[in-house]
Amino acid sequence: MADSDDKLGTDVQTSAGDGAPTQHPVRRKKKRLMVLGIIVAVIVIIVIAFTVWHNTPGFCNAICHEPMDTYVESYHSGDAGMLVTAHAKEGVSCLDCHEARLGEQISEVGSWMDDSFPVDENGYLQNSNASKMASPENCLKSGCHDWNEVVDSTWGFEGNDAKYNPHSSHQDGSITCGDCHKSHQDSVLYCAECHDLTLPEGWEEPSNE
Ligand code: HEC
Ligand code: HEC
Ligand code: HEC
Repeated sequence: MADSDDKLGTDVQTSAGDGAPTQHPVRRKKKRLMVLGIIVAVIVIIVIAFTVWHNTPGFCNAICHEPMDTYVESYHSGDAGMLVTAHAKEGVSCLDCHEARLGEQISEVGSWMDDSFPVDENGYLQNSNASKMASPENCLKSGCHDWNEVVDSTWGFEGNDAKYNPHSSHQDGSITCGDCHKSHQDSVLYCAECHDLTLPEGWEEPSNE
């Protein structure tokens, strides 16, 4: 290989007289282009494959078993009380809700490396400020939920009296989606703290703390 490369590199001009093909430099160029093409193609394939993998739930716990296993398990659990399962059925992926922001990802890697992510006995992250994530801004963004439809469809929810609507009441403005809808844990019917209501399947009453 080195030999022939050498020839290609040096002998080309001088070999013109002995009938050797003069297109060597062209072939060399072609060969270089081909090698370059293959390298680019391989890089493109790797980037695409990584991007596709990055978008799957499996990516999240492939490396970071702790703490991600709990969250990925909840995604596949089929538990009706968890917001994430209905979304999983619809093919909504982790990153559709958790927008990948570079800064956050870097700090996640940092926490993972120095082990600074305390989890509770069930494997959920502690010191989390994620409870505000299920907000109107996130859930009602275009392509997700239409608020009027949500309100219209939940009067007298779960067979409760028609005057009860979790999405339209005297509590409007003081609570946010995540006060009831929990993505990776059982959801909580905030109103049941004071009203005697039938809960949706898998939901819990608020704990009296
Ligand atoms: C329907 C949107 C949605 C999907 C899909 C979703 N999550 Fe979540 N996730 C949330 C919300 C909302 C929270 C805030 C806490 C809660 O509601 O349980 C959260 C919290 C988390 C947290 C805790 C973050 C913190 O700072 O405490 C992790 C980790 C997490 N999700 C990982 C995942 C993984 C991994 C997947 C995919 C297997 C996933 N999530 C899919 C909405 C989602
Ligand atoms: C007070 C508790 C509570 C709050 C706060 C709340 N929800 Fe709900 N939500 C419920 C309950 C309970 C159901 C289930 C209704 C049923 O079983 O028919 C529900 C159902 C839904 C549904 C499904 C509706 C359907 O047609 O089946 C959507 C979408 C939804 N909520 C979005 C939201 C969004 C977005 C927010 C925040 C802007 C929010 N919810 C705030 C309690 C709540
Ligand atoms: C902290 C306690 C508390 C919570 C939490 C609460 N309510 Fe109420 N609610 C009351 C009180 C007190 C009244 C007035 C009592 C009455 O008129 O019988 C009331 C009245 C109502 C009424 C007027 C009809 C009626 O029964 O007289 C509706 C409807 C209602 N609440 C729905 C809700 C919904 C939906 C939620 C959850 C989003 C909720 N409430 C959360 C305390 C609460």
